[in-house]
Amino acid sequence: MPSQLRSAPPRSSSPAGRSRGAGVRSALAAAVLVAATGVVTSATPAAATPESSLQQIVPAPVEVTTRPGTAFALTAATEIRTQPGSAEARRVGEYLAGLLRPSTGYRLPVQPARSPRGITLLLTGADPRVGEQGYQLDVTPAAVVLRARTADGLFSGVQTLRQLLPAKVESPTRQRGPWTVPGGSVLDHPRFGHRGAMLDVARHFFSVDEVKRYVDQIAAYKINRLHLHLADDQGWRIEIKSWPNLAVHGGSTEVGGGPGGYYTQEQYRELVAYAASRHITVVPEIDLPGHTNAALSSYPELNCDGVAPPLYTGTEVGFSSLCIGKEITYTFVDDVLRELAALTPGEYLHIGGDEAHATTEPDYLTFMNRVLPLVAKHGKKATGWHEFLKAEPGAGAVAQYWGTTGAAPELAAAAARGTTIVLSPANRAYLDMKYDENTELGLSWAGYVEVRDAYDWNPGAYLEGVPESAIRGVEAPLWTETLTNSDEIEQMAFPRLLAVAELGWSPASTHDWTGFATRLAAQGPRLAARGVDYYASPQVPWRN
Ligand code: ACM
Repeated sequence: MPSQLRSAPPRSSSPAGRSRGAGVRSALAAAVLVAATGVVTSATPAAATPESSLQQIVPAPVEVTTRPGTAFALTAATEIRTQPGSAEARRVGEYLAGLLRPSTGYRLPVQPARSPRGITLLLTGADPRVGEQGYQLDVTPAAVVLRARTADGLFSGVQTLRQLLPAKVESPTRQRGPWTVPGGSVLDHPRFGHRGAMLDVARHFFSVDEVKRYVDQIAAYKINRLHLHLADDQGWRIEIKSWPNLAVHGGSTEVGGGPGGYYTQEQYRELVAYAASRHITVVPEIDLPGHTNAALSSYPELNCDGVAPPLYTGTEVGFSSLCIGKEITYTFVDDVLRELAALTPGEYLHIGGDEAHATTEPDYLTFMNRVLPLVAKHGKKATGWHEFLKAEPGAGAVAQYWGTTGAAPELAAAAARGTTIVLSPANRAYLDMKYDENTELGLSWAGYVEVRDAYDWNPGAYLEGVPESAIRGVEAPLWTETLTNSDEIEQMAFPRLLAVAELGWSPASTHDWTGFATRLAAQGPRLAARGVDYYASPQVPWRN
């Protein structure tokens, strides 16, 4: 990938001309939805409106059975009952109550389950087909019963359940009911174990609260990995106690020259814990040996000539490299990985490895051959951008593919050696690519990525010569050269993140662009009620 292709034009500070939707909030009126679709399922007052149909869930479930004309009504008396003796199930129950209380205004006390009444979350009795991450949901007029084998499964089931309530349930302020859930059942489990979103907090820094907000948004679509790109040329964003100047100096600016910032170790732990409470594992990335200007600027001894370069606030890539021949480079990497491993409960550390254009090929191999064992030494497995396959990392390694074509023989060779792959093709899964020529934010080096481009590919058959069994899953990266706040993050991520989430979760048999676009349209009012300013793509039949 030519390095200059990743460079961005200066970000415009004017919000005018953004290619985003206007007036999406008006779609909240159920009456409009009924009129637009012409579908009314039943004359009973408890019947679900089309906006909360079992047919509109994103990501599409494995199996749905409807019971037209029946519904469960959530009322002021409803209780949430969870598996007796399970603190994890109780926490999922509390999370569900926390989602539903602001809009319904109901108390929704969370109690140990004695009998399946109200909304019941159980870790027993699930169909074995749900596996470790799936769930079974049954809605009758008497009760909503969610069963899973793990708390992860219950949490995914809760995401489905919230989509069965009217869209206004997502509102942060009290709304008028009725709060009905259509009768029926869902049996569901994911196609892939890794369903990721990556946020680049290096090019622009995002506060703990901004990251938590993104965590909440991605969790709603059953994303279970948050890859944080914590260091790049423009900024070092994690406190490393043995090398304090990385954060203090290396974190002191960002693209465009703003103040930047970094997470203290305590703040990072808080983020990891918050993500875990949304059943999301954080995968931290320190990009090595290129993309390291912020580190090189913080410590002169890391440079081959002993001279620290100035901090960098532009958007070029591929110009920096750690000094491969100096022993202190490996002391530095060892210290960073040790501290990061101690802060990170997840199995993987991401060591970058992309666009190392300022490192010679032999140096790159020398570096990776020294660094891969350091990851293992600190009890973690290595993941990296697919260029790191040049070093033939061992069978437990995970390669993240960001190329733009399925013809990548080195990936087939790696898969044959036992390496597994996360797919992030830049012309499909990169959320920072512009939607079309009118999109103000974002880049376009991989082309425009409209919603249909993000959806219409098959992760299981994308890479030539790589079987689906070698694919761990999909991940949607969001690089932030042009993005500075949550509103801008959300305009780029939504609705395309839902396309990638569906590719990661739903069985290939459900793949159908027209059906997806219709279901996506039903998500519009939900995103709007959560305050997400999504891009109202003309490809999607939004109902307003
Ligand atoms: C990348 O986009 N350089 C991974």
